[in-house]
Amino acid sequence: MRKTQRLDKILANFGFGTRKEIKQAVKNGIVRVDGVAANDSGMHVDPESSAIEVNGEVLNYRKYIYLMMNKPQGVISATFDLKHRTVADLLPEEYRHFEAFPVGRLDIDTEGLLIMTNDGQLAHELLSPKRHVPKRYYALVEGCVNDMDISAFKCGIILDDGYKTLPAELTIIKAGEYSETEVVIMEGKFHQVKRMFEAVGKRVKFLKRLQMGGLKLDNSLAPGQVRELTAQELNSLKNKQEGAL
Ligand code: URA
Repeated sequence: MRKTQRLDKILANFGFGTRKEIKQAVKNGIVRVDGVAANDSGMHVDPESSAIEVNGEVLNYRKYIYLMMNKPQGVISATFDLKHRTVADLLPEEYRHFEAFPVGRLDIDTEGLLIMTNDGQLAHELLSPKRHVPKRYYALVEGCVNDMDISAFKCGIILDDGYKTLPAELTIIKAGEYSETEVVIMEGKFHQVKRMFEAVGKRVKFLKRLQMGGLKLDNSLAPGQVRELTAQELNSLKNKQEGAL
């Protein structure tokens, strides 16, 4: 069944002003629905099937939004918090009315790829423990990461609460007093990467998520920046949730 909404509500949600201002715009004849000038700002329209124009500009209406954020440090992966700034606070005005929420969590001091959407089904599929969606991280670690750590990660690590993780892939980029590594995990336990390194006697100094399923972080996004996924990226997320990165 098609869902209609008041024209002024649709336009207000898109940031075209207050209902009063929109009423005036309709009176001025600058709002068109399916090519015909609207004569009532309270008219009911199905925004999914009708073309709504304001001043000749067609509204890019979509029910769901899929955003990629390069989450900065210092904000929490939530939509509301009394103490801290949240990732939702960082969203530009044009995306606010979609009420997107973060798909999973990154710690307050973790940076990198965070998907935000209002598509509950996709979020559920990406987060389902049964799906084993791989997540790739860059981790700067205090201590010299070695081949024994690689083997331990491959076998699965017993965490501080006794849980044994699924096999994880650890790659050493540079070993030394501080080591640069990449880690691929197939689950999303609380502080998982940090606790895996702790279990082998090392401490994560900096953590950044680089990839989730088939979706890679866009390197041109500065921390705090956000953009919509391309159709291709959305496909890579929907179709390639499982398997190797
Ligand atoms: N593992 C962690 O320890 N922290 C994160 O934010 C993500 C994965």
